[in-house]
Formats: sequence, C-alpha cells, structure tokens
Amino acid sequence: MSRPAATWSEDDSDTYRALSAFVVPERERQIAIIVELVNSSTAEGDVLDLCCGEGLLTRALLAATATGTVLAFDSSPGMVAATRRLCGGDPRLVTAIVDIADRSWRRFGRPLRAAASSLAVHHLDDEAKRALFADLFAALAPGGVLALADVIRPATEAGHDIAARMWDEEVERRSLALAGDRSGLAAFRAADWNHFRRREPDLVDKPATLVEHADWLRQAGFVAVDLHWMLAGQMIMSAWKR
Ligand SMILES: C[S@@+](CC[C@H](N)C(=O)[O-])C[C@H]1O[C@@H](n2cnc3c(N)ncnc32)[C@H](O)[C@@H]1O
Repeated sequence: MSRPAATWSEDDSDTYRALSAFVVPERERQIAIIVELVNSSTAEGDVLDLCCGEGLLTRALLAATATGTVLAFDSSPGMVAATRRLCGGDPRLVTAIVDIADRSWRRFGRPLRAAASSLAVHHLDDEAKRALFADLFAALAPGGVLALADVIRPATEAGHDIAARMWDEEVERRSLALAGDRSGLAAFRAADWNHFRRREPDLVDKPATLVEHADWLRQAGFVAVDLHWMLAGQMIMSAWKR
C-alpha cells in the first residue's frame, strides 16, 4: 500500500478490518493478557480503550467489567461504528471520535481504573508519546494500570529483519489456521503492511524502541513497568500508578 498521507485514513480502516484477523500476532492471547492486566487494577472507575479499532478488545473489556463504563475512542468513524455494532448497544459503552494527538480528550470526569491501547500509540511522534504517557498517568487513579500493546522499532538492522520475517511467519500461520490457505499472507503482502521491511521514513507508523517505551513510562511517573509478551516486533507492556 502506498502511504502518501501523514494520517490514518478511512481506507486504512477498511484495509485493517479486512486483514486484522490474519495480521495481528496471537490476537486472542494479546486480548486475554490485556484484559487480565486491566482486571488486576486495584482502582475503581472507568476503563479506556484508546484507538479501539473494530472493537474486539472493547468487547472483551466490557465482558470482564462488573462496574463502570468502557470508553472506546478512535479517530475513524468507520471504526467507532464497527465497535458500537460489535458491542451490541451495551449501555456501559461510551464512544468518542478523537485524535490521539489532541490533549483535550484526556480530561476525564473521574479517574480511570485502567487505560488500554492496542496498535495505535506508534502513530504519535516520540514527543507526543511522552505527553500521552504523562496525561494517562495523571488520568489514572492510584492502583490503576496502563496496558500498552504496540509495535516497537527494533534497535538494529538485524532486529528489523528478524521482526519482518517473524511477522510474515505469524501471518502465514494464522492464514493457514483461519482460512485454510495462504490468502491472508498474500493480502498482507499486497497491502505492503509489514513496515519492518520498509527502510524509508514512514509518516503514519512511528514506533519507538522497547527501551524508549520503558524509559518514557518511568519518566511519566509509572512504576513496575513490565513486559508481558512480545512477538514479531510487537509487545504488551504494563505500567502502574501507585
Ligand atoms: C492498527 S489499528 C488498531 C485497532 C485496535 N486497537 C486493534 O488492536 O485491533 C489502529 C487504530 O488507530 C486508529 N487511529 C489512527 N490514527 C489515529 C489518530 N490520530 N487518532 C485516533 N485514532 C487513530 C485507527 O482508526 C485504528 O482504529
């Protein structure tokens, strides 16, 4: 896919919804880990799913949430509509169309129990990532957790090559398991979605390294910053507010 625009488009949303079953590594396990992290929050309040996409994580968070609402935010009207459809009119779901880079949506009426985000924070530049981590730290209640799933930027060329190859392998595995053939891998390649294979600057995907994530989360005030899962250049971290 050529990427002339500096921002995610509705075409990107359509492409992602068509590919996501194949291209998100161990997607079911990732969702289960994030839900487990959110459930281990000792705080009360609402749960944020930032950049909810088509709503699979949102739906799992709602299913695991006894009290409070789940706030599902995304810039894409198509994605927000898909989330609302998937969650079947659950009255505990609150959706909003926001730009992740805009700081105005980060003021909440009451502290958050947890904030989760999957495959989205890498759309921010590094300065904006650090501002987001600081604002989410401020928005969380004591005992609250940030569960962050995202692509990372490998620190070396070898790391890029390993991540690229492992992502292809994982997409192939999922395609064979889910479709019974390699059609998912073919679509992934046709869409040029494996950005670890690109070396030119990418205006949409701006991942940071794993270590930068850990440093910036700690600098934002989080403690017990941890890594729970990693595969094919993609990770799940948690960070806590005490
Ligand atoms: C790769 S998808 C991930 C969706 C979902 N969280 C998941 O894990 O399947 C990236 C999501 O980020 C959203 N997004 C991209 N740029 C954004 C922005 N500037 N502000 C808010 N959301 C954005 C897209 O609409 C899309 O839903």
